[in-house]
Amino acid sequence: MKKNSIVILDFGSQYNQLIARRIREMGVYAEIVPYYEPLEKIKEREPKGIILSGGPASVYLEDAYMIDKALYDLGIPVLAVCYGMQLTNHLLGGKVEAADKQEFGKAILVLDDATNPLFEGIPNNSQVWMSHQDHVVKMAPGFVQIAHTDSCIATCYNKEKNIYCVQFHPEVTHSEYGKEIYRNFVFNVAKCEKNWSMNNYIEETIKNIKEKVGDKKVLLGLSGGVDSSVAATLIHRAIGDQLTCIFVDTGLLRKDEAKTVMQVYGENFHMNIKCVDAEERFLSKLAGVSDPETKRKIIGKEFIEVFNEEASKLTDVTFLAQGTIYPDVIESQSVKGPSMTIKSHHNVGGLPKEMKFTLLEPLRELFKDEVRQVGRELGIPDHMIDRHPFPGPGLGIRILGEVSKEKADILREADAIFIEELRKADLYNKVSQAFVVLLPVKSVGVMGDFRTYEYTAVLRSANTIDFMTATWSKLPYEFLEKVSNRIINEVKGINRLTYDISSKPPATIEWE
Ligand code: XMP
Repeated sequence: MKKNSIVILDFGSQYNQLIARRIREMGVYAEIVPYYEPLEKIKEREPKGIILSGGPASVYLEDAYMIDKALYDLGIPVLAVCYGMQLTNHLLGGKVEAADKQEFGKAILVLDDATNPLFEGIPNNSQVWMSHQDHVVKMAPGFVQIAHTDSCIATCYNKEKNIYCVQFHPEVTHSEYGKEIYRNFVFNVAKCEKNWSMNNYIEETIKNIKEKVGDKKVLLGLSGGVDSSVAATLIHRAIGDQLTCIFVDTGLLRKDEAKTVMQVYGENFHMNIKCVDAEERFLSKLAGVSDPETKRKIIGKEFIEVFNEEASKLTDVTFLAQGTIYPDVIESQSVKGPSMTIKSHHNVGGLPKEMKFTLLEPLRELFKDEVRQVGRELGIPDHMIDRHPFPGPGLGIRILGEVSKEKADILREADAIFIEELRKADLYNKVSQAFVVLLPVKSVGVMGDFRTYEYTAVLRSANTIDFMTATWSKLPYEFLEKVSNRIINEVKGINRLTYDISSKPPATIEWE
């Protein structure tokens, strides 16, 4: 099914992943490769179309991102976006110049040839999104202009070579008919067929796992999070009991987490899961420690030790399975170098390098929403698939300062109430991440006839697309009131609740 694909050459645009997702949503596989991918390798992928992405550079800079001109003679249709358009015209004999001022924002697309297959279903004078400094002032020989805005050549094409160039960004939602542009390129120009579906993916991947693994054994660290759970379920479908999962209960997990994971994946799905109760080990290592980074390091190190110990009890394991997903893969090969989205301290649970396993990563090609879809099709219940992210160090970084079992138990109760109420009010899926934080601060309160002196907790709820920036969720007052009443009345140890109204930046989503 991947033979029928689109290859996106990455020139550093922040929108690359959006392009790939738009195309996959249409049922066609799209993959992102760095612009310097050798032509031979591109050909091996047998794409039906190639998209050159945008990028922040200028073709005239000394170290501008260049490609081999022979790409345009492969006989594979090309759609060149923004920088891609400038590069194409530059390489093929046109002229690109810096505009007087940067064009950033909405523009109106005037069609000069509305009958072109790229414009099927697109009315004249629609809105498009521009973000560029340079523009094409003279098209390369063989190109004709088929659309313009009041400031630039917006689309041109070379009929003979089947190359289309657009100065705007069709992948951005502000481009009113952007989706149609990609649809027209993918189906009218590149003649792709719709065959990318999660059903097909599951079938094909199960077959591949069976072939690759044979009669060998596979080990997987199951965290209860979406990626490792979906990976485990998929592998289990393929090879059943040849898969062993290790689930480490650090004592820093959400309420009933170990029980839920064992119930869903152990009892219902009949997976072979070794649940390790390591609460005491983690808590004793954390005793007396209040510095956040030290806590993270201790938790990460302990996790690896526990995992190692358990793994060494198993014999004949050949494969180590991981829930690596496509954004992790793209990130590691990004032409911009690793971005801030992957912070080293986020890799708690990352496994020791000296382990001599062959990696098995059945979700490497999928975006997060595709992973969720696979999970649903495999029958994983919604409440496990739509879960908010949960940090590796868990409650260890949500109990500010020193961690103890007493505090972890208090926090678990409060957090469970917040989440339960969010679900009941149909708000859980409208926010990106919500949880409770326990402060090392006690304050005075009154309960019936008694004076209390207990902990203060914080409700935190953030809305975000990429977790790099976030705003605080504007939850209704009535809802907050209800949660506050319940937590203060039902959780012994908390007598005061506050709501975090800080955005990221300058705050972070977590408190430590
Ligand atoms: P911050 O607090 O940096 O969080 O705004 C952004 C996202 O990263 C998660 N996070 C972590 N995940 N280990 C993890 O596995 C960590 O140490 C860690 N710290 C933050 C956080 O929950 C949010 O989703």
